[in-house]
Amino acid sequence: MLFFMPDAGRIDDLTGRVVIITGGSRGIGLGIVRHLAGRGACVVITGRKQERLDALSIELTSGGTEHLVLVADVANRDRAFEVVAAVIERFGRIDGIVLNAQSFRPVTPLLDVTESDMDLLFDTGPKGSLWLMQAAVPHMISRSWGRIVTMGTSMGLTGAAGYGPYAASNEAIRSLTRTAAREWGRHGITANCVLPASAAHRQPPGATDDERSLAFAAMYADNPVGRDGDAEHDIAPFVAFLLSDESRYVTGQTISVDGGGIMRA
Ligand SMILES: NC(=O)c1ccc[n+]([C@@H]2O[C@H](COP(=O)([O-])OP(=O)(O)OC[C@H]3O[C@@H](n4cnc5c(N)ncnc54)[C@H](OP(=O)(O)O)[C@@H]3O)[C@@H](O)[C@H]2O)c1
Repeated sequence: MLFFMPDAGRIDDLTGRVVIITGGSRGIGLGIVRHLAGRGACVVITGRKQERLDALSIELTSGGTEHLVLVADVANRDRAFEVVAAVIERFGRIDGIVLNAQSFRPVTPLLDVTESDMDLLFDTGPKGSLWLMQAAVPHMISRSWGRIVTMGTSMGLTGAAGYGPYAASNEAIRSLTRTAAREWGRHGITANCVLPASAAHRQPPGATDDERSLAFAAMYADNPVGRDGDAEHDIAPFVAFLLSDESRYVTGQTISVDGGGIMRA
């Protein structure tokens, strides 16, 4: 059985698709929201801070994008089901989920990592991703079509001193993604994990232009493309492909969208 989206258009046409983006109020998530909005998708954005969501809602309204913003901590399983209920009430369907949000902790050597460090990264990483899958996937199964995009990090593959809980939790996300691909593939649902690189928004706010250039030069010295990724124009187009009908034969994969930086490994 082939699972074509009956109303699927061109590869870049996401018109009318309903996509939830967790952590869509800043950074990579925000770039994805803006890109999908530009392609005609209806976007649902979650995050913890109401003021960030309100600012984005004003921007999307002025651009004429159908959207919904909801305060939701991804670690809260009940809230994941409330978010999905609100989306179904508003739009009647869910086509895609982009499981992008994760909370972070300062860099900590393994010997100093605490139980609460591990809990935060696992609660907001693999567990948070699973809760929204559990809430949304039955609605995808009912329409025999769905797209799941998770976010991981190359640090999970390579290891990264000081980032133990983050790296480990992201490997758990990749593993869940592969199981999701196996369990739901025959329902027309794909699940893939993106390893992005787009760190400009993570530079310290007080950093000078010189400090930023030095930090980026060091970070991207061995990167074939040789620069930071732009969330909206470099990362999001690939996420849009994974959300589209044309990606139907790609599932269970980890794809680095990082200018080839993964080849450092
Ligand atoms: N930036 C990179 O180069 C890079 C590299 C590899 C992987 N990644 C992955 O890509 C994803 C996005 O990274 P980023 O750099 O854009 O992150 P970011 O700048 O820290 O943004 C995170 C977003 O998620 C929201 N958020 C954080 N914790 C949340 C929670 N518990 N519940 C709901 N929303 C939450 C934040 O909004 P609120 O604060 O309002 O909640 C914000 O909108 C992450 O999964 C990260 O691991 C990023």
